[in-house]
Amino acid sequence: MCRAVRAQLAPARYRHVLGVARMAERLARRYGVSREAMRVAGVLHDIAREWPPERLLAYAREHDLAISELEQASPILLHAKVGAHIAAVEFGVTDHDTLAGIATHTVAQPGMSAAQKIMFVADTIEPSRTYERRGQLEALALRSLDEGLLGCVSASIEYLLSRGVPIAPQTLEVYNTLVRRYGTQA
Ligand SMILES: [Fe+2]
Ligand SMILES: [Fe+2]
Repeated sequence: MCRAVRAQLAPARYRHVLGVARMAERLARRYGVSREAMRVAGVLHDIAREWPPERLLAYAREHDLAISELEQASPILLHAKVGAHIAAVEFGVTDHDTLAGIATHTVAQPGMSAAQKIMFVADTIEPSRTYERRGQLEALALRSLDEGLLGCVSASIEYLLSRGVPIAPQTLEVYNTLVRRYGTQA
């Protein structure tokens, strides 16, 4: 599986993918989720990340994957859903946690399972990412999955704001729910 993934990704992206797989396994152990499921999700989560927008849109249409307005405008977001579909049909993945974790790793989703939270967090904090708060977010995520998720969702929103690009409504909804609960601590 790793070889097939490496063949499809630039070296830096492949390093990121291995970092996510390792971080996801660590979080899985900490939060009682299947390590195998999270390792596989980590390895496969960005399998379609380097596809051009037209290919992502064409794949989603061809396989009847729902395309939101935002995904229509920013097709790169589709790499998560498309990645989950590829994991199922090309790599034979059947584990629900693995597939859901891949599908929501980019914009998150209200009511996520522990596995889905782990994938969103691992994607944000794996060690090959070099932004300033990475270490802090990692420590937070190992202390509390929800507070770690809030930190990662906040970092994602800040990043999108800094680039002046749209923020998915699901991401904001997750942020709003978590910030009401943990706002002053994260
Ligand atoms: Fe991704
Ligand atoms: Fe990623």
